[in-house]
Amino acid sequence: MLESDIPVFAIDGPSGSGKGTVSRILAKRLGWHYLDSGALYRLTAYEAEKQAVVLSDEAAVAKIAGSLDVHFSADNEGVFLAGENVNDAIRTEACGNRASKVASLPAVRDALLDWQRAFKKPPGLVADGRDMGSVVFPHAKVKVFLTASVEIRAERRYAQLKAKGIGGNLDAIFNDIRERDLRDSARSVAPMKPAKGAVLLDTDKLSIETVVEKLMNLLPDSTV
Ligand code: DC
Repeated sequence: MLESDIPVFAIDGPSGSGKGTVSRILAKRLGWHYLDSGALYRLTAYEAEKQAVVLSDEAAVAKIAGSLDVHFSADNEGVFLAGENVNDAIRTEACGNRASKVASLPAVRDALLDWQRAFKKPPGLVADGRDMGSVVFPHAKVKVFLTASVEIRAERRYAQLKAKGIGGNLDAIFNDIRERDLRDSARSVAPMKPAKGAVLLDTDKLSIETVVEKLMNLLPDSTV
């Protein structure tokens, strides 16, 4: 298979839009590889904190991004940094906020670019993030931008935390999400926005299964 023939399904959107969950299901159903690009920014933020590197030191943070020793488990549920499973540690709100700051540094985005592209392998890739269709895989076969209102996303996040036995404050989560959206959309490099040619899908009133079905239907028959 020629590199240019490997299909990419680019799924972008804000956190809480459901893209992580549906991307994983889609990758599994199609038997394709999966790129959780947000995890790479989260891992960079996590490691920077561990090494006490301040986020204003762009060159030092980019160096960390370029030298992460990361391994994803085959089921995409485990994320290992230097052999340690850090999946839970990087999924916290605090790490997400730091990741959003790290993600606004152009040198960091640069350092992660080739690595993200290397996830594209036969038979295909489901790529989940903010700039998958616009910057990382501009030639993706299918591009989708999932959206949902801030209210619904905050409620989903609140329910997730509750299910994990971690308490949370709905108002604080709401404000956090709004702040992160603003930062991710307003940055000068690779801002979060629908890619040219992306299909917009509002998931406010849709179940995960319905979203997956709608996305499956976007794939040309020749691909599946
Ligand atoms: O999808 P997530 O919540 O795990 O992403 C964490 C942060 O990383 C998010 O606030 C923005 C940033 N990010 C990005 O800028 N570009 C991507 N392709 C993925 C994530």
